[in-house]
Amino acid sequence: MDPINVFEYEALAKQLMDPVYWDYYAGGSDDEVTLQVNRTDFNRIRLRPRMLVDVSHCDTRTTVLGQLIEMPIMVAPTALHGLGHTEGEYATAQGAGAAGTLMTASTESTRTLEEIAQAASGPLWFQLYIFHSLKLAAELVRRAEAAGYQAIVVTVDLPILGNRERSKRHTISIPLSALKEMVTGVEEEELRREPMTWETIDWLRSITHLPILLKGILTAEDAVLALEHGVDGIIVSNHGGRQLDGAVSSIEALPEIVEAVGGRCEVYMDGGIRRGTDVLKALALGARAVLVGRPILWGLAVDGSKGVQQVLKILQTELERAMKLAGCPTVASINRALVKWT
Ligand SMILES: Cc1cc2nc3c(=O)[nH]c(=O)nc-3n(C[C@H](O)[C@H](O)[C@H](O)COP(=O)(O)O)c2cc1C
Repeated sequence: MDPINVFEYEALAKQLMDPVYWDYYAGGSDDEVTLQVNRTDFNRIRLRPRMLVDVSHCDTRTTVLGQLIEMPIMVAPTALHGLGHTEGEYATAQGAGAAGTLMTASTESTRTLEEIAQAASGPLWFQLYIFHSLKLAAELVRRAEAAGYQAIVVTVDLPILGNRERSKRHTISIPLSALKEMVTGVEEEELRREPMTWETIDWLRSITHLPILLKGILTAEDAVLALEHGVDGIIVSNHGGRQLDGAVSSIEALPEIVEAVGGRCEVYMDGGIRRGTDVLKALALGARAVLVGRPILWGLAVDGSKGVQQVLKILQTELERAMKLAGCPTVASINRALVKWT
């Protein structure tokens, strides 16, 4: 029987996957408090639906950085799709394109960024980790530009890896080797750690004309700094609860960031999106669009590109139903008055 919601994809993926790989996908850091509140904080928000609105036509389309997408739901960057499916990021890129939305490809993909771009039928952003030399980062940016990626998503919440205890007793040795494969010809000593600061963002701004998005911002203070450093967008995120445990949930952090930004750049969020109503709440609180991490991996593990497409389709269908029930025929009609915190 076909899964009817993303939780059923989760259960199926868990059955199908190697438990070590499953733990890598599923886990958060320490006690997984932030992982949990990413979900449960959506229940602190209630909807204030409006009635007697003509919702016979409902349009989930929107634009992100000027790019039209079929739904305000995009694919978050996640590492190592090869653990979920033999076709890895090929399948994810095809599924996202077929669903009419954008995929963010991770620096730690199991396919090269060029291969992903070739397989893709939809728009792509490239997620950049700057934890090795700037030379290496510059090379990745140059390659992403050449391959047609539309933006650079710099992940800023990983000065070091969070304490992910579910994966502590296993070694998944793919990350560095995959990265090395992507940057063939790079000397071993160049794979040392590069401290990342706001100056690094200035440096990045100076080497590319692609839009720069910062992923992992959780405070109004950092959102203001991001604007001062010339970024084009902010992704409110706590890395799916995999970095600082006890950090605020993404949905709770969103309003103060939207307020601080005041429309000066686009604000997106990820973390805990599992239902169309979650998307509706995030949009009502000012997100331009959301990104989805684990559910994409579940779809991938269950049914490759078709599973990815179907997970996105389920979320889009749920969003459309929720928009109609709430009296919102378009994405633009979703506003702050639709939600209240309990
Ligand atoms: C298995 C896994 C791998 C991830 N790898 C990356 C990554 O390579 N780069 C990155 O910026 N974020 C990474 N993330 C974080 C996601 O981009 C995103 O912030 C998070 O998954 C959103 O939460 P959700 O899984 O509840 O949707 C990863 C998350 C997971 C679950």
